[in-house]
Amino acid sequence: MTGFPQDFLSVDDLDADQLVGVLDLADTLKTTRGSPRGDLAGRTVALVFEKPSTRTRVSFQVAVTELGGSPLALSAAELQLGRGETVADTGAVLSRYVHAIVIRTFGQDRLTHLAAAADVPVVNALTDTEHPCQALADLQTVREEFGGFTGRRLTYVGDGNNVAHSLLLAAAKVGLDVDVAHPPGYAPDADVVARAEAIAAGTGASVRVTTDVAGAVAGTDVVYTDVWASMGQEDEADERLAVFRPYRVTQELFATAADDAVFLHCLPAHRGEEVDAVVIDGPSARVFDQAENRLHAQKALLARLVP
Ligand code: CP
Repeated sequence: MTGFPQDFLSVDDLDADQLVGVLDLADTLKTTRGSPRGDLAGRTVALVFEKPSTRTRVSFQVAVTELGGSPLALSAAELQLGRGETVADTGAVLSRYVHAIVIRTFGQDRLTHLAAAADVPVVNALTDTEHPCQALADLQTVREEFGGFTGRRLTYVGDGNNVAHSLLLAAAKVGLDVDVAHPPGYAPDADVVARAEAIAAGTGASVRVTTDVAGAVAGTDVVYTDVWASMGQEDEADERLAVFRPYRVTQELFATAADDAVFLHCLPAHRGEEVDAVVIDGPSARVFDQAENRLHAQKALLARLVP
């Protein structure tokens, strides 16, 4: 394993060994939860949220606390960010007070500008382009279920969004085959797909992006979906409802996956839209294990990242 990067802005900031190392530590932290740790003793971590959050905000607060540090949760409205102070100035100033910055924001450019100005590690807690912390928990959950990645296939159904991007990169890195089945016009970013394909060429994983949802789900090991209109796309919700309807994970569609297939969703979910209630509330769903793993994976990430 080479030196750990200063920041975690994209899944692609970690090489495969570093990624698996974080997952290994996350598994250990999960089984030893309750044993005191001092990885972040004497350290404060700013948690800046420019968009709503339940899982990410709470799991990071608990993660920092359980590693012996002090979380400082801040919404944009509580900061001068909300009144137009630049993200660069915000990053430079926060660096003088705290030991790491976790931020949920809009464009990836806001994140990179903040990170460039900050002297402390910066973590992407979701941008419009990526959700890399979610991908860590997703991989942890898949590995718990199947014991490994090789020879397994994950099928993401729906919008080619930030969650899909991070999954493509993460799956390719660890050798997990990955399909994205999307409605026409909602494909993942071509540069991200090309990068995932390049990574997969070295790990033996397959990457497939298709509009054929039935073909992508048939025989797969993991069916994963997300809401049809992400944060900031609420005005497109009605249009998306019509376009995405054939991509709903129905009971009938899920039944075509492998016999031991599991269902994942990053949450929050809209039952009856992107997934039937009988699937997400059924015996094959692992969505709450997946949500719990946000905590363990982010503890592992912070333990590795924050000096
Ligand atoms: N999955 C996820 O990021 O959830 P929150 O938006 O609640 O943080």
